[in-house]
Amino acid sequence: MTRVFSGVKPTGHLTLGNYLGAMRRWAAVDQHRADSLFCIVDLHALTVDHDPARVRRLSRQAATLLLASGLDPELCSVFVQSHVDEHTRLSYVLECVASDGEMRRMIQYKEKAVRERSRGGSVRLSLLTYPVLMAADILAYGADEVPVGDDQAQHVELTRDLAVRFNQRYGQTFVVPRATRPAVGARVMNLQEPASKMGKSEDVGPGIVYLLDEPDVVRRKVMRAVTDSGRGVEYDPQGRPGVANLLEILAACTGGDPVELGGGGAYGSYGELKRDTAEAVVEVLRPLRERHKELCADPAFVEGVLRDGAERARGLARPTVDAAYRAIGLLPAGTVVPTGAR
Ligand code: TRP
Repeated sequence: MTRVFSGVKPTGHLTLGNYLGAMRRWAAVDQHRADSLFCIVDLHALTVDHDPARVRRLSRQAATLLLASGLDPELCSVFVQSHVDEHTRLSYVLECVASDGEMRRMIQYKEKAVRERSRGGSVRLSLLTYPVLMAADILAYGADEVPVGDDQAQHVELTRDLAVRFNQRYGQTFVVPRATRPAVGARVMNLQEPASKMGKSEDVGPGIVYLLDEPDVVRRKVMRAVTDSGRGVEYDPQGRPGVANLLEILAACTGGDPVELGGGGAYGSYGELKRDTAEAVVEVLRPLRERHKELCADPAFVEGVLRDGAERARGLARPTVDAAYRAIGLLPAGTVVPTGAR
């Protein structure tokens, strides 16, 4: 059976972009067709300036929202990265297979390092080594498929390189995974800057709809979305990115097609389109918010899911990571050698 692994970084509140672009498909498709693992990658949240209480809160919230979005612990595993030691155990070994030049070439590292420095901060060493930890996340489970956005494609490519290199040097140990992009699923853009993705959890602002926004906040954000100069509604992502984004969102929420929704003069004005889009988003988020509220009232349930998830994850990862330790030349612990045989 195909194994799917993906991670959610608890550095910000989850957005409509995360939901329509990824989470919804994990729940509707992946957990039914594949052995799926969904991990709250909290160690990754420590690679930039962070607030401990916030990371803790966002980790619990991400877990709760994953379950609220329909992930079923009977069908898939939901767990927290730091609960499973195998990730860091494997990460070190992979650091011995990766090169420093390779790390410094990572686009996300370069961008984030510049950002940190411009804020007058120093760059954490873990920001540089982060893609190796991500590779460990994936390789520890022998994942075949890694559903990620375009911004993570380079990291999955690195993961493949490390797996192949390790296998060549030390013997067949890892499954070589591949990044998968959802065949269908919206690419939701920021309502205020339709050129950038809404999924980036580090960003804040009025162009981002969060999954836990109150309905009125959702409506306000959608109604204030930037549209384009020109009149009439039509689907033209190049020329009219703002309107195209609204049509994409409306289509993703209602199961329609953005081109059809924009065609035939169905919408006479931007205002009408915004109103329908706002209501569609509110309706899509309604059950999620309700389920989230129920789960918040039952923290023991969520904790139990995470405990079971971590236990299963440990059981899956342990043999692979042990095999990697042996293959690279580390002496197995606890093998009692009879005195005569030394
Ligand atoms: N780096 C990913 C992000 O920033 C999160 C992540 C960490 C991840 N480990 C992963 C995604 C493993 C997929 C698989 O969004």
